[in-house]
Amino acid sequence: MKPLPRSGLSRRSFLAASAAAGAALPFQGALADTPGTYVLRAAQYRARLVPKPWGETDIWCYGGTVPGPEIRVRQGERLRIEVENALDEETTVHWHGMRVPNAMDGVPHLTQQPIAPGGRFTYEFDAMDAGTFWYHPHQRSFEQVGRGLYGALIIEEAEPPKVDRDLVWVLDDWRLTEEAEVAGGFGGFHDKSHAGRLGNTVTINGRVPGKLAVRSGERIRLRLINAANARIFALDFGALAPQVIALDGQPVTPHEPSGRGWVMIGPAMRVDLILDMTGAPGERLTISDRFYVENNFQLVDLAYADEPLREFSPDWPAQLPSNPLPEPDLNSARRHEVTFTGGMMGGMVERQMGPSSEGRMTGNDMMGMMHGEDIWFVNGTAAKGHILDPMLVLERDRSHVIAMTNATAFHHPIHLHGHSFRVLSRNGQPTPHREWQDTVLMAPRERVEIAFVADNPGDWMFHCHILEHQAGGMMGVIRVA
Ligand code: C2O
Ligand code: CU
Repeated sequence: MKPLPRSGLSRRSFLAASAAAGAALPFQGALADTPGTYVLRAAQYRARLVPKPWGETDIWCYGGTVPGPEIRVRQGERLRIEVENALDEETTVHWHGMRVPNAMDGVPHLTQQPIAPGGRFTYEFDAMDAGTFWYHPHQRSFEQVGRGLYGALIIEEAEPPKVDRDLVWVLDDWRLTEEAEVAGGFGGFHDKSHAGRLGNTVTINGRVPGKLAVRSGERIRLRLINAANARIFALDFGALAPQVIALDGQPVTPHEPSGRGWVMIGPAMRVDLILDMTGAPGERLTISDRFYVENNFQLVDLAYADEPLREFSPDWPAQLPSNPLPEPDLNSARRHEVTFTGGMMGGMVERQMGPSSEGRMTGNDMMGMMHGEDIWFVNGTAAKGHILDPMLVLERDRSHVIAMTNATAFHHPIHLHGHSFRVLSRNGQPTPHREWQDTVLMAPRERVEIAFVADNPGDWMFHCHILEHQAGGMMGVIRVA
């Protein structure tokens, strides 16, 4: 892979440069002569999300663009990121999926004081793992992320697998008014108690996607990042057979997506794909999202150039080098149970509103009871803010298994800070790839077991990444000590 430029693009050229879904994000925000040093200024800006004749949109974002500046360093390098808060409210930045020291994790009140309006904070940490990560605020994230505060964070392998192009697609889903402004009502009760704030406009790299020009025989590494508050994607690549090479930044044995071949990606999750462009010159192909509407939601059109790049797909190895993750020892692991309850159409609420409301309440129903802003519960407790007593205390440097039960009627992408975990099983069935994740998408009523070595000391957030569910109480603290 050819090294990409680290400077030379002006701040303002970004929108033009990223107009096509296939354009790589420029390294805007990097200080040219200090590798690994970035400035992120969080502020309100106007940006063009949707094509003319609609106007531009008022958003909150980093450095004037959505996504914010792409941060990209080599594995093992040190990152130093100065955050300037030009918003009217407090903020922090969390480095999602990065195994950072606790004080750099960006959780307000838990790991740092929030950054006041006009204030600054410098984050500094080493890039331990190579992979696809992202950054976003952890203060009122349901609104701050929802208005556009997020960006890609790419840690390059020392020897990346050979590809023709390395593309980053940051997916988002906006709820826009007819004037193309961001609709208000963030954190409303209906969004909180159902599937979260689903939008009406999907963007890739901050623009409604258009065409992606490809060439026959080309090999693309596609890094997908789901930055949406609530939308889950199930991407159907049609005749292409994508190879999944990493999940949440962590390498996995290259494999085709299971089930119907759709790439499932819940909020905050990342999937790295190898896409071999096997179509003929001049051919067209549509990438669709089928999660909510199976029959079709066209996302991107691929258009093959008339000239092929090569005759055959390359047979270059796709396996990524592994990251330095400690392997959990299942024989000596301590076991913990976590149950998620609450929300609409689940437990007691459904029964109360349904036709047969006389049923007796069970313990589970009690936990599913909503009062005021308490909508979702982790082991019976609905979190209020980030100042929390730990729900679990894990002995440091030991292996732990957490058996999680989703006793609700909704999907939940469950995220643990400061660690990656192996997904061992789903509903008692071992997972075929024992993938490492930092966010695991749980289907309604599903039971998922995860395992990891608790080697990163501190208090770590553990929460649903549907940001309205998090705000509705679906969050806790896990202490590693
Ligand atoms: Cu991506 Cu606690 O967050
Ligand atoms: Cu949730």
